Amino acid sequence: MNSTSAKFVASRVQRRLQAVAAATLATGLTLSIVTAEETPAAAPAADGAAANVWSGVFSPEQVVRGRRSYNSLCARCHGEALGGGEDSPTLVDKDFLKNWYGKTVGELVEYTRTEMPSDGPGKVTRKQSTDITTYVLATNGFPTGASELAPDPEKMNQIQITPKK
Ligand code: HEC
Repeated sequence: MNSTSAKFVASRVQRRLQAVAAATLATGLTLSIVTAEETPAAAPAADGAAANVWSGVFSPEQVVRGRRSYNSLCARCHGEALGGGEDSPTLVDKDFLKNWYGKTVGELVEYTRTEMPSDGPGKVTRKQSTDITTYVLATNGFPTGASELAPDPEKMNQIQITPKK
């Protein structure tokens, strides 16, 4: 390769990286969504054992919807990146997850629906709360799957929030 074509290739690589960086910024969320296909070991047990959050219990579309509602109803206190604010706790990582491991997705949805926003709870619908919860879970690294999480308390109460095995 002569130096002219090497430069040409280098500048194409450069442009490609810039394009990837721009796409990453534009679709930061989408790129960070993990799909359940990548964690086949966590598929629901065939014997009908309860699913857990590692088996892909909500869809990517639902997460996107949840993010929209989160941004309008929750971000002013918990922050755009869910990291928490002055008086509001973080909704990501260890400090958040330690409060929810061993509980169910249904409990998290119900807590959000009945206790949040802390300065005027009771206006978030169960459907909204379900969508928002999928966004919170996805942001914490739990994978998406093929189907939406139905806003059905009985079903959601069977989905455990557990650490990765
Ligand atoms: C007015 C500010 C405010 C808004 C808006 C708000 N929250 Fe909160 N949130 C808080 C505060 C303060 C706490 C801590 C409550 C406590 O300790 O009793 C909290 C706690 C939580 C928790 C429990 C955190 C943990 O570590 O267990 C969750 C989950 C949560 N909020 C979700 C939401 C969601 C989802 C929304 C949007 C529907 C929302 N919050 C809107 C202030 C707010």
